[in-house]
Amino acid sequence: MLDLPQWVLDSIGPMPMPVDNPLTVEGVALGRRLFHEKMLSDDGTMSCASCHLQEHGFSDPDAFSTGTDGSVGDRNAMAVINLGWSENLFWDGRRHSLEGQAHDPVTNPIEMRNTWPTVVDRLQNDPLYPDLFQAAFGTSAVDSDLVVMAIAQFERTMVSFDSRFDRFYYGGDSSALDQMELDGMALFERHCTQCHDLGLFTDDDLRNNGLPFPVTDSGLAAVTGLSTDLYKFKVPTLRNISMTAPYMHDSRFPTLFDVVTFYGGHVDANSPNVDTTNLTGLLHLPNGNFTWEEKDRLIAFLNTLTDSTFLTDARFTAP
Ligand code: HEC
Ligand code: HEC
Repeated sequence: MLDLPQWVLDSIGPMPMPVDNPLTVEGVALGRRLFHEKMLSDDGTMSCASCHLQEHGFSDPDAFSTGTDGSVGDRNAMAVINLGWSENLFWDGRRHSLEGQAHDPVTNPIEMRNTWPTVVDRLQNDPLYPDLFQAAFGTSAVDSDLVVMAIAQFERTMVSFDSRFDRFYYGGDSSALDQMELDGMALFERHCTQCHDLGLFTDDDLRNNGLPFPVTDSGLAAVTGLSTDLYKFKVPTLRNISMTAPYMHDSRFPTLFDVVTFYGGHVDANSPNVDTTNLTGLLHLPNGNFTWEEKDRLIAFLNTLTDSTFLTDARFTAP
């Protein structure tokens, strides 16, 4: 079910597992079915996978996802990759477990627009589901807690550690990256790993990376009410980043070129709570910008984080 490479155990550590929701074959299988289940939405047209598309690292290529009634949100649907290690879910970090997170889209008025009693009623009266809940949890009585537990189990199996970067860095295959990509990795280690650690490519913290205004979303401050949290957003993973455009919570950058151009010369050092400590190198680049060559190298390195095994893994498709 969860067969992590030894280097992951050594350098990232085992995936934390909630004691009351261990992975089981039956639980993961049920979660997979529920992740792709359109009965979760009010009009039966939308599943989790409608906004979280596997070929895009389980993110949405649309800047903003459209809910069942046509309403459009104001944040980009995030990639679902290696979240078993994440304790801060959503761009503003408002949920702290995958179980807690999975409650929200179902009732969100701009997403699935449903009610939990309706979902439970539909699944309970389905010919298949009661037996699947029996197999996974020892009871055929469907309830919302069991639904989100199964989805969370499935999400914990959605791990991506088979990119060319992994083969080079952890697998000891020195030919897996070419010189341009290695140069890009050196730049990345100098300027980006402060927040996007190698390994998970995120430190799972909430930070302000200095996006130029207008920034209309207050981020973590909307959750905590603290002005010291204004404009802080979750540091997202960069795994499969070539497949998860557009970029940033507000989808402002269509391409990785736009992203590295931003980090190179356009970080707003005056944005409230901007993380100047971790952005120091970027704020003091020679000539105040990345050169064209440096941008190309960084992008070449970011492209090595694509894991086609993950993007096409048959265990994650609709059952
Ligand atoms: C209508 C589109 C839509 C649907 C349907 C949807 N999501 Fe999302 N998802 C989003 C958006 C947008 C965000 C970011 C929202 C935010 O930060 O406020 C998100 C965020 C997430 C995250 C947080 C990832 C992270 O790194 O913190 C997870 C996990 C997730 N969704 C799982 C699910 C699951 C499970 C379902 C089904 C029960 C689901 N989503 C249904 C659009 C959608
Ligand atoms: C101060 C910490 C920090 C540093 C240093 C940093 N980032 Fe980020 N990065 C973030 C945060 C926070 C976000 C999300 C910001 C948002 O959406 O408002 C982000 C978002 C991104 C995204 C968009 C991901 C997505 O899914 O939309 C990319 C790509 C990215 N960073 C690449 C880089 C690269 C390349 C570097 C080095 C040149 C770098 N970052 C340096 C904190 C950092």
